[in-house]
Amino acid sequence: MHFEKSQLLKTLPKQFFASLVEKVGNISAMGHDVINLGQGNPDQPTPGHIVKRLQEAAEKPLNHKYSPFKGHQYLKDAAAEYYRREYGVNIDPNTEVAILFGGKAGLVELPQCLLNPGDTILVPDPGYPDYWSGVAMAQAVMEYMPLTEENEFLPDYPSIGEEALQRAKLMFLNYPNNPTGGTATKEFFDETIAVAKKHSICVVHDFAYGAIGFDGNKPVSFLEAEGAKEVGIEIYTLSKTYNMAGWRVGFAVGNKSVIEAIELIQDHLYVSLFPAIQEAAATALLESQACVDELVQTYESRRNVLIEGLKEIGWEVTAPKGSFFAWLKVPEGYSSQEFADYLLEHAHVAVAPGIGFGQYGEGYVRTGLLTSEDRLKEAVRRIKELNLF
Ligand SMILES: Cc1ncc(COP(=O)(O)O)c(C=O)c1O
Repeated sequence: MHFEKSQLLKTLPKQFFASLVEKVGNISAMGHDVINLGQGNPDQPTPGHIVKRLQEAAEKPLNHKYSPFKGHQYLKDAAAEYYRREYGVNIDPNTEVAILFGGKAGLVELPQCLLNPGDTILVPDPGYPDYWSGVAMAQAVMEYMPLTEENEFLPDYPSIGEEALQRAKLMFLNYPNNPTGGTATKEFFDETIAVAKKHSICVVHDFAYGAIGFDGNKPVSFLEAEGAKEVGIEIYTLSKTYNMAGWRVGFAVGNKSVIEAIELIQDHLYVSLFPAIQEAAATALLESQACVDELVQTYESRRNVLIEGLKEIGWEVTAPKGSFFAWLKVPEGYSSQEFADYLLEHAHVAVAPGIGFGQYGEGYVRTGLLTSEDRLKEAVRRIKELNLF
């Protein structure tokens, strides 16, 4: 028997990058050595002290029981301490932190928490495609905020127009940015807060790459800007900072009413995370951050190898300021999809076509910095052989 999917499921956006995975699989199956720069999965292991804490915590019978629905208090305390130490921001761990099954869970839940069908949400274009999933589930309407190189990949609020801003109830932002590698300034967040206050918009800042800033510039937290908690929240994940993408742990911090809404929906969807993971996550946040410094250095030096290598072969590219992605202009005569296909077929180098991140992603491809310097050099060598530049 075949059971029909609900109307709601049928409205979910297609997973654009599934076709990239399939194409890479096909080329690899032919026996080619593909250098896959198309995905966003951290390649390094979780630091040893965090894994060890999980091992110890997994042995405690108390951790085999249900977690409190809202997660353990010690993890909320650790999140608050993290924000105090890293950003000088005061967070009430009792009312201003919600524990999440990774950032994605929070991002998908939020439109359902705050929007009614037909409500408007402002989303960045290009942007992380999972934003669209939560919007579809809430049956909300997206208004795109173009991110252009001329505006340093920040939205230009005046050009969005008063009518759309007035209509919007929610806004997603993400800096350091996936896919463009752009970063935000405190002044930009100040402007965002002013816009949000004027139009009663709830701001959700996705800080997934919060730890990854280059050239000595630590990314700014939205909550560092004055008044941020009045208008929104920040979503933090341990996936990238500590190479814990498979563990599924993150948290939301900020505006009490939004935190309350997240905890309410989660009360109905799940019991919180495996307590041993919560213990290990608290260890990650509270103990030495030397592993994070090392990771950022690794990405920065990979970035330098890739960007310098591409410049040497004549590709005019700009170095990302943060995240572990580089956003590269496609040469004249190709669409982003055509160019990605060309690199895959002829150089066996996989990159993500910008169009997969939205209309304003056209003209670019995204490459990850998630492989060794040697492999990045090899990718550059293969691209050089195509004599495109
Ligand atoms: C911009 C952005 N936000 C959120 C996430 C979600 O990360 P996680 O669900 O692992 O916390 C990702 C992961 O790739 C991302 O790139």
